[in-house]
Amino acid sequence: MKISVIGAGYVGLTTAACLAQIGHDVFCGESDAEKLFNLQSGVMPFFEPHLENVVNCTRKAGRLTFGSTEQAIDWGKAIFICVGTPPLANGDADLSAIESVAHSIAKHVEGYRLIVEKSTVPVQTGAQLRKHLAVHRTRKLEYDVASNPEFLREGSAVGDFLHPDRIVVGVESTRAAELMREIYEPIIRQKFACPVHQDCSTPKETVFLVTDTNSAELIKHASNSFLAMKISFINMVANLCEVVGADVSKVSQGMGLDPRIGNAFLNPGIGFGGFCFPKDVQAFIRIAEKSGCDFSLLKEVEKINNQRIVHFVDKIRKELWSVRGKRIAIWGLAFKPNTDDVRFAPSIPVVKMLLEEGAIISAYDPEATAKAKELLPAITYCKDPYEAAQSADAILIVTEWDEFRAIDWHRLAGVVERPLIIDGRNVFNIPDVTGHGFQYISIGRLPGLPEPEAETGATSSNAEGTDGREGRMNFLKMGTSQQIV
Ligand code: UGA
Repeated sequence: MKISVIGAGYVGLTTAACLAQIGHDVFCGESDAEKLFNLQSGVMPFFEPHLENVVNCTRKAGRLTFGSTEQAIDWGKAIFICVGTPPLANGDADLSAIESVAHSIAKHVEGYRLIVEKSTVPVQTGAQLRKHLAVHRTRKLEYDVASNPEFLREGSAVGDFLHPDRIVVGVESTRAAELMREIYEPIIRQKFACPVHQDCSTPKETVFLVTDTNSAELIKHASNSFLAMKISFINMVANLCEVVGADVSKVSQGMGLDPRIGNAFLNPGIGFGGFCFPKDVQAFIRIAEKSGCDFSLLKEVEKINNQRIVHFVDKIRKELWSVRGKRIAIWGLAFKPNTDDVRFAPSIPVVKMLLEEGAIISAYDPEATAKAKELLPAITYCKDPYEAAQSADAILIVTEWDEFRAIDWHRLAGVVERPLIIDGRNVFNIPDVTGHGFQYISIGRLPGLPEPEAETGATSSNAEGTDGREGRMNFLKMGTSQQIV
């Protein structure tokens, strides 16, 4: 099918490239002239695993073209609207970009079009779109409006698009439902060349769920808000664990074994970030408020998330005593691994708070340095985690990149001023760190003190007495022996 995608952001570019990958003829329109020029020259606007390869291959095969929004609107039988819906100051989603696309379609398009809203939008946006088109359309435009929320995660967007758990389409006509099914048929049946996995011989079952547009729109906001709630819940449990002396990783493991709860999104840390959860929770609160529903549960989710940063910085203060003049290494700046996205990343407020208190900061992130420099110009950016840790009084882990898991402890111990790791993402098993002579402070687990027989020779400057350490190590060993493998 000839398909237009409006907007080449994370959602739009992934949608355009993946729809081309499964066999459609796609025209992707972008209104930012510099971004469009780059895309036409083969330069990707952001880092996303596998996406560059899919874009290059489908362009080469002649199934993906980039051009202006106007050209794109003219092209496809289906038009996917994937423009930004950033938050306004009051928490509402700004829908002006969607309105502007709808207006252009109404004024310039002739014949039948299936108009698909894929951007994350508040409930009843489809109804507004329909109304706008009815008021402004030329007589020659015939149309259906469908909602098709996306559930892609940055860092695994291509795989998520091609192997989804569910495809949700909200429609008001059989024609729209049939066209949406035709578009997604190769994915529902898992019949396409997979650019992510070498062996896709055991495809996942994909549920194709057809609803009305209001319900489809709500599914998106409710899903993101629910996942955010799970994260805030486990973060509060982590706080409790720290106070009563329990291990949150065991608690979340024990909870997650109940299939009604599930173990996903129960990793405690310094809170959720990125351009989806924070703004979607805010928008959902506003939607509920405007509809007269008291969804204060979500206000708590947001409040708990904001407190994560303060809680993390408190751990640093407590350990370093005074932060002023201390050298702090930051490992990870992206809001999560496998992306270069730093929008609403917890790293930003953490660094700003530490800078305000006089810390000297060196940071390393495998992908996000260029984007972080725009928001945090006053810190030193390093080429690897060791350079960032040079003479550091503390290493803070802010993003759980795999690279950190493979650290050379001996080399690390040789460059730091003080062997102290404060981990906001619970990357390591405690004995793995303490066994290399590092003091280890993580989230919701007992503090890890260096093992006495450490080979590196590095020692903690504030290690407690042997009794305390033995007690903790015995406890940890007990925990390990009870692990389910
Ligand atoms: C999220 C949803 O997971 C996608 O389904 C959705 O399509 C997308 O938003 C969107 O609306 O566009 P994404 O923002 O890419 O995807 O990232 P997630 O993997 O969901 O992580 C969000 C944040 O939660 C990250 O900061 C992550 O570190 C944090 N997180 C996640 C935790 O703190 N703990 C967890 O257990 C899981």
